[in-house]
Amino acid sequence: PSEEDWVGGSLCLYQGFWLPSRLLNGILAYQNHFQAHSSDILLVTNPKSGSTWLKGILFALLYRAKYSSSDSQQRHPLLTQNPHDLVPFLEFKLFLEQENPDLAAMASPRLFATHLPYSSLPQSVKDSKCKLVYLCREPKDTVISWWHFANKLRPEEKGQILLSECLDKFCRGLSPFGPYWDHVLGYHMVSLEMPEKVLFMMYEEMKEDPGVHVRRLADFLGCPFSGEELRDGTVEGILRMCSFDNLSSLEVNKSGKLSTGQEKKWFFRRGEVGDWMNYMSAEMGERIDGVMEEMLSGSGLKF
Ligand code: A3P
Repeated sequence: PSEEDWVGGSLCLYQGFWLPSRLLNGILAYQNHFQAHSSDILLVTNPKSGSTWLKGILFALLYRAKYSSSDSQQRHPLLTQNPHDLVPFLEFKLFLEQENPDLAAMASPRLFATHLPYSSLPQSVKDSKCKLVYLCREPKDTVISWWHFANKLRPEEKGQILLSECLDKFCRGLSPFGPYWDHVLGYHMVSLEMPEKVLFMMYEEMKEDPGVHVRRLADFLGCPFSGEELRDGTVEGILRMCSFDNLSSLEVNKSGKLSTGQEKKWFFRRGEVGDWMNYMSAEMGERIDGVMEEMLSGSGLKF
């Protein structure tokens, strides 16, 4: 396949998308062996779109009954485990570390995450009644988040990657799991055709009114909040547990590495909307806006 250098590693063009070459074996194994169950929930994101945050929210939401008393709140898994360990990425952790991991024993509903574009998902995911939650993020902020993350991943001898270089690649479709617009559009279209299959969410909307979107998520997943839960602060409790300040201050997220080698603290940087303005010139911002406008034209989707 065609390969391009990207930050520390390389990206290869596979089924129309630029995928990190080092993950290709995991992606092929996942495509060949993963058998979706109708009760599965897959969180899908483009990297740096808020996956860690939504992993925490999904976990806290689905297991809220189990950890509702103040006694069990103190033993909440999010206090001692990183969200990436509670909701593993199929193509990184599970199918990269073992070719065919035994996932059958996992408690239902099984919670997974993936960055794969819709068109590359295993057929069983498309055919089963499992649900997909797609979270996307404003592209300029996503690029800035990537740029910071990429420089952490990059071997020291290669030096830091320039923002202009990162942006240039992004605008040519070259980003992990990109082209960015095709990734977003793929899920957006399916969410319009099959709203019971894909819930399409935006990071910025979640930041603005998280309570509304957590309720929307619960409705979509078939576990709506009861009237009592809406009155007793359950929603607020989930949001507090998964807030940037709380998650990033927990010892389990401040030190140590994931089994994939990345430091846990790298997943918590700033968590704000509009941070691109602190790094990009107006021209750089306009360039991304122009590409996105062109690529999304006629789709009804806007950032
Ligand atoms: P920034 O680099 O802009 O701060 P991902 O989890 O998909 O890798 O995305 C990482 C981005 O989500 C980072 O963005 C990170 O700071 C932000 N993030 C992590 N936890 C968050 C939280 N609880 N609330 C909001 N944003 C969060």
